[in-house]
Amino acid sequence: MAGHDVFKLIMIETTITIDGPAASGKTTVGYQLAEKLGYVFLDTGVMYRAVTLVTLNRDIDPNNEAAVVEIANNLQFDISPEVDHPDGRHYTVLVNGEDATWQIRSPGVNENVSVVSSYPAVRDEMVRLQREFAAGHAVVMVGRDIGTVVLPNAPLKFYMDATAEIRALRRLSDHLVRNYNSVEFEKILADIERRDAIDSSRAHSPLKPAEDAVVIDTSQLTPNGVLETMLESVEERGLPNLAA
Ligand code: DC
Repeated sequence: MAGHDVFKLIMIETTITIDGPAASGKTTVGYQLAEKLGYVFLDTGVMYRAVTLVTLNRDIDPNNEAAVVEIANNLQFDISPEVDHPDGRHYTVLVNGEDATWQIRSPGVNENVSVVSSYPAVRDEMVRLQREFAAGHAVVMVGRDIGTVVLPNAPLKFYMDATAEIRALRRLSDHLVRNYNSVEFEKILADIERRDAIDSSRAHSPLKPAEDAVVIDTSQLTPNGVLETMLESVEERGLPNLAA
């Protein structure tokens, strides 16, 4: 076994957290960062979306906290990376055994996911799964509370932000790519502002930067610019590059 393989095995557990509001660019850049460093990537928003999707598919009112908690506690969730998938996905999400990669991005899920993710018992279960996922891995984990609650001892934490208008424009272009042509900018902006308000003001694990987070305002930066900034921090902190 070559020397660097031994190093990989020894250093395998390390975490980089990226938090920030909806459409701040954290998922795109987090994925690229994980790829560059040879780490596993987990976008935790996908898990809250999965709980929301099952709730809606079963015609359960998302305001029915007890029923939603029951769904979260019994969720079968699986995520696996994809390379060169024909529909452009970076990973496949299986929810209760079915491919839900695109359904978890539907407008119905967007509308209801903040309420679902505000329930403490739902969060407790997702956090448990996220910690389990991080154990023994080199991982880039993206979400709202990863640096503050899920992995407070992570050696490197980022908080990405951008104005609500810029984030709405980014979401709009995502929607257009997936043919949601009827979705208007104003509607997306209103949805982002509504979700920001719920995510930041909820009592349990509100969205906020960890005290030791590197805060990056992405409003004026390209994804590449953000990635460069992050890689500088990775080097400064001496975190291993497992892809090198
Ligand atoms: O990042 P996203 O838009 O896919 O997240 C969907 C929702 O999930 C978002 O409104 C807030 C919630 N979320 C959360 O509360 N905690 C996380 N760690 C990740 C997402």
